[in-house]
Amino acid sequence: MTPQKTHTVTLIPGDGIGPEVTQAVIRILNATGVKIEWERYAAGAEAFEKFKTYIPADLYDSIDRTRVALKGPVTTPVGGGFSSINVTLRKKFDLYANFRPIKNLPGIKTNYPGVDLIIVRENTEGLYVGLEQEIVPGVATALKVVTEKGSTRIARFAFEYARQHDRKKVHCIHKANIMKMTDGLILRCSRKVAEEYPNVAYAEHIVDNTCMQLVTNPYQYDILLLENLYGDIVSDLCAAFVGGLGLVPGANLGESTAIFEAVHGSAPDIAGKNLANPTALLQSAILMLRHLDETEAADRVQAALEKVYAEKTALTRDVGGSSGTSAFTDAIIAALETVPA
Ligand code: NAI
Repeated sequence: MTPQKTHTVTLIPGDGIGPEVTQAVIRILNATGVKIEWERYAAGAEAFEKFKTYIPADLYDSIDRTRVALKGPVTTPVGGGFSSINVTLRKKFDLYANFRPIKNLPGIKTNYPGVDLIIVRENTEGLYVGLEQEIVPGVATALKVVTEKGSTRIARFAFEYARQHDRKKVHCIHKANIMKMTDGLILRCSRKVAEEYPNVAYAEHIVDNTCMQLVTNPYQYDILLLENLYGDIVSDLCAAFVGGLGLVPGANLGESTAIFEAVHGSAPDIAGKNLANPTALLQSAILMLRHLDETEAADRVQAALEKVYAEKTALTRDVGGSSGTSAFTDAIIAALETVPA
């Protein structure tokens, strides 16, 4: 028998509920038997307190080595202070694809049962390049940067995913009627890539109409391909279809590096109270297991998660239950034992 592989993964527990949800996920992953050596690093406010920097150089070195990270939420100040750790890491490791599957869990009642959507968001360009300035007092500008290279590679990511996972259609979401140069370039690149994939249908929708269409009939969409800002907003809208931000996973993917993270924030209002729902980070960890080729473990955790949701006896307060983080985690670990290997 070949010895079991040990994976090395960088762990950023984050702030607020971050340490609680990461701890829950580590317990569940340990219970699968997959061998993971965690390199743990602080980032954000906690790192600043200890090392006078928001992202310690050691953390960069670790991700450079491991090429895979699991990240909890980090508190980011609004309208000033240090720039977002997430945006910084995405830029540093060129994690150009933000990938968010949106799928209902059993037992979670929403107005939209049976949604199965993939959001592919460009993660490094657009208005998020952070080129803002105050030209004169009272007048501020932000530069929207779109490149042919960036638009082509994110379109190719969406179509390649469609091809590999038997998805039928990619919608490119844009505002090229107003932003003719920037969003116009995105459309030209997307159309060109679409021609390489004759078996995947391609369509274009304007972003404001898309919001209305999504709320009216999300089932018409399969894969949504969006630039950075539209992707940020539309992906949170789509999270509501399946029960909100506490549930949906996220992955930031580049050519050689991947960071898996929950999309919710650090939830300071419930931090340290054993109330946090670790589902979003757990679903992100399932994506990570697949990335590490631990498909069987990923399937087992997914099945255990779905079982616990279907039974509804150990759910956390945010999804209508009364259990704490640790009882929910115990229930998943118990369910894992009942799921066939
Ligand atoms: P938030 O997502 O932290 O909280 C919004 C609401 O959802 C709160 O009522 C919170 O209790 C609840 N909630 C969030 N996650 C939950 C979970 N796992 N279980 C149960 N309830 C949960 O958003 P907010 O308040 O806008 O941001 C708080 C901080 O987090 C800010 O500093 C923000 O910048 C940061 N943030 C960090 C992100 C990241 O690191 N990926 C993403 C979004 C926000």
